[in-house]
Amino acid sequence: MSHRIAVIPGDGVGREVVPEGVKVMRALGVPLAFEELPWGCDFHARTGRMMPEDALATLAGYDAIYLGAIGWPTVPDHVSLWECLLPIRKTFEQYVNLRPVRLPPGVRGPLAGRGPGDVDMLFVRENTEGEYSGTGGRVHVGTDAEVAVEVPVFTRRAIERCARYAFERARERRGRLVSVTKSNASRYAYVLWDEVVGGLAREFADVQVERVHVDAMAARMVLRPDSIDVVVASNLFGDVLTDLGGALQGSLGLAASANLSLGGRGPSMFEPVHGSAPDIAGQGRANPIGAVWSAALLLRHLGYAAEAGRVERAIDAVCDEGRTLTGDLGGGASTAEVGDALARAVG
Ligand code: IPM
Ligand code: MN
Repeated sequence: MSHRIAVIPGDGVGREVVPEGVKVMRALGVPLAFEELPWGCDFHARTGRMMPEDALATLAGYDAIYLGAIGWPTVPDHVSLWECLLPIRKTFEQYVNLRPVRLPPGVRGPLAGRGPGDVDMLFVRENTEGEYSGTGGRVHVGTDAEVAVEVPVFTRRAIERCARYAFERARERRGRLVSVTKSNASRYAYVLWDEVVGGLAREFADVQVERVHVDAMAARMVLRPDSIDVVVASNLFGDVLTDLGGALQGSLGLAASANLSLGGRGPSMFEPVHGSAPDIAGQGRANPIGAVWSAALLLRHLGYAAEAGRVERAIDAVCDEGRTLTGDLGGGASTAEVGDALARAVG
């Protein structure tokens, strides 16, 4: 049976990297049917909307969504994201944002004396609430009495399901989990977070759990990356720390993510961590590896574990060989040349 994949290249370099991911998936010979949906900021310029009115109903009919990047200077970011990416994550309850942070062989990371063996983490980011709840408002707009309120929302249910997933991954990996918190300054939300994680820790007695405040975690990732295995973090903390993770991987252009809908509420979505990168868009210079790596996560999610492994090994081989890399990794190859090299390497 063939799986139907909704392909949303989106904006900027999203449109350059997504075809490379599709190219690599096609080279594997798996029965995937790709259908492109031309949504994003250009669509907004034509129609006044980021996606059609029935977009979420349309997406619900697919087995997975493969996305490039959303956002362009012509549309305010809070509009483009809140009318496209964030409703998809929330509507389909893609409650885990899974982000592997691994330095591939041959890539020089920014940390002196640290190599691939030292940077191998798996981030599990809560993906539906927290600081991304969208709760709040503004009053007295434009006056000097103006007030803006943005209310983070944390629920036991959402913390629990995300943290449970993280414990399960930790159990399969090196048995260590860091829970990122800020329950010193926060008196309610992160205290609840800690309590829920603490409850699960009793259930997963074989997993060693550490509670680390987010500020200390930023330093820890730089100073002792080898001490970190699986990480569970709230939406905003996970967002910030995985950009740091991208830097530790050698380039944000390598970083991959899976927005996993694990409760049967709709398709999952796979996208590189980087954005639309207006500064380099249209030049064929963007690194497609983050998008290709995200394709590996898509394949694994749909049950093609062997093919996912082939894609990940191809990424390692192309990185290790070092001859066909984009500028962010010190090479001179184009986006399409790296895609071609990866498609050959999986073949
Ligand atoms: C990410 C991005 C998004 C986020 C933005 C574009 C809303 O930075 O996927 O990490 O903050 O989640
Ligand atoms: Mn981000």
